[in-house]
Amino acid sequence: MAEMTWNRHHVLSLADFSVDELNIVLQTANSFKDVLYRKTKKVPTLQARLVTNLFFEPSTRTRSSFELAAKRLSADVLNFSPGTSSLSKGETILDTAKTFLAMGADMMVVRHQDSGVPQMIAQAMDDLGENVGVLNAGDGFHEHPSQGLLDLFTLCTSIDPDQPATQLLTGKKIAIVGDILHSRVARSNLSSLVTCGAEVHLAGPPTLLPKAFADYGAQVHWSLDPALEDADFVMTLRLQHERMSQHLIPSIREYHQRFGITRDRIQRCQPQVKVLHPGPVNRGVEISSDLMDDESLSLIPHQVTSGIAVRMALLYLISNHSH
Ligand code: CP
Repeated sequence: MAEMTWNRHHVLSLADFSVDELNIVLQTANSFKDVLYRKTKKVPTLQARLVTNLFFEPSTRTRSSFELAAKRLSADVLNFSPGTSSLSKGETILDTAKTFLAMGADMMVVRHQDSGVPQMIAQAMDDLGENVGVLNAGDGFHEHPSQGLLDLFTLCTSIDPDQPATQLLTGKKIAIVGDILHSRVARSNLSSLVTCGAEVHLAGPPTLLPKAFADYGAQVHWSLDPALEDADFVMTLRLQHERMSQHLIPSIREYHQRFGITRDRIQRCQPQVKVLHPGPVNRGVEISSDLMDDESLSLIPHQVTSGIAVRMALLYLISNHSH
């Protein structure tokens, strides 16, 4: 393979990731994956670097996974949670970020309920001339790039555990099912999977799946079966209960009947089909509980494990690239 170069100081979106960049992440994550299986699960790569986790919105997987990834690389880690911070005294987001900058932050991992906050912090750091890399850990409905990359790594390693690469997904049919409209995970996955040459099919009710999503290069279905027909992979998304109060779906029961992924419904897929979910999961709503726990069909635990290696790769790549 020709030499590939990494030129990003921030990871805010997958919309402009090239095939080469996706492959650099896959290869780097694959080498860090080996570290996670060693007796000594730690390397000195980021010794004395400071990673700050700025999570303005709740998280289980992403926050823990970035923290563990940083620790496996021997970085120091500071975790921030709004409930126990001076945000409640009126401190702004940017002043919070500048406070961690003054403590010597080298990288900031940012999650916020509003789209654009990681971008705003990255811009502020650049304007100050500071060499701080910003990683978007999920912003509003916009993007969740590290989730998209760990999903990509999970898909590729499920095909070839030793040599994950984008071309493994070329021509594969991947169905993404559920609340696409409000999903930052769907947006990041759409960008990376279309870039890999996968055939992406979206399925959900019209209130949660506007036709304009076809502009990404995906096929849009307002019923489940055409999306599942011969699919190689099915990614199901969390039904966001807060949407119920907006009357965007008739009822959870009806939603499960029409768009819930069950053992029965995946009979339409390829025999070797695998099912993914970014979590958190509403068991029995977007996916049946037995299917979620079936290790021969579900890649959900692999997604969580992949997340550590992929986030190690991102922290390493970002830290290695200076302005
Ligand atoms: N997939 C994901 O972002 O999960 P958390 O909200 O638990 O981080």
